[in-house]
Amino acid sequence: MSSSAEIRILTTPQELFAAAGEEVVRAADEAVNARGKFTLALSGGSTPKALYNLLATNARTALPWDRIYFFWGDERHVPPTDPDSNYRMVNEAMLSKVPVPPANVFRMEAENPDASAAAAAYEQTLRKFFQLDANGVPRFDLILLGMGPDGHTASLFPGTEGLKEKSRLVIANWVEKLKTHRLSFALPVLNAGRCVAFLVSGTDKAPALKAVLEGNDPGEQYPAKLVQPKDGKLIWFLDRAAASSLSS
Ligand code: 6PG
Repeated sequence: MSSSAEIRILTTPQELFAAAGEEVVRAADEAVNARGKFTLALSGGSTPKALYNLLATNARTALPWDRIYFFWGDERHVPPTDPDSNYRMVNEAMLSKVPVPPANVFRMEAENPDASAAAAAYEQTLRKFFQLDANGVPRFDLILLGMGPDGHTASLFPGTEGLKEKSRLVIANWVEKLKTHRLSFALPVLNAGRCVAFLVSGTDKAPALKAVLEGNDPGEQYPAKLVQPKDGKLIWFLDRAAASSLSS
């Protein structure tokens, strides 16, 4: 793990979400002051749902909602109405409760039966929004990520082809153990972020977290280890349970 990573260990999940919420507000202020807008890539899964709820309530007045542009770092290969949809989770937890212009919300069209076409379409969305040339990589102001008990992040799972992607921005990654494609940012996009923040809570994550932060295993075995922003901040928001196996 690069020494530049900031490890924030909070006592409880609630404190973790409060600290992460403060980081979102800080990053939003910095981005809007410097560049007039805040580009935010959201994580799926269950952990960040509490953060999204918090942003929609406690931080509602602290965020410049009309200057925030929402993207997803990954999505399940399901329609937006599906209970597994990351879009649906974020919409229910936050977007449906705050004054975000619909034009500021960029959903992955994961209802497309052709996962590769859906990934390519989202890649075009990124290239257009960030005005990228053919080799450009978007630089998000903040990328929120979770981590699975196997060390996966976004939809980059251990041993999957998607880990090798170096040129495309968005991929349809076949995940054998789930028997499905997942849409995901490729690593170059994650590593281009101005700030990348992991939210990791619970004892079930402790072994993988120790492997990621302290182990010598190859990153392909614990993909979260491969997230090393080249010119950006990396922050790990952990609760004590998730951090319980760490030596320091
Ligand atoms: C997803 C997420 C995924 C998630 C981890 C952790 O689509 O599920 O992007 O990478 O962050 O699986 O999920 P939990 O927070 O639910 O443990």
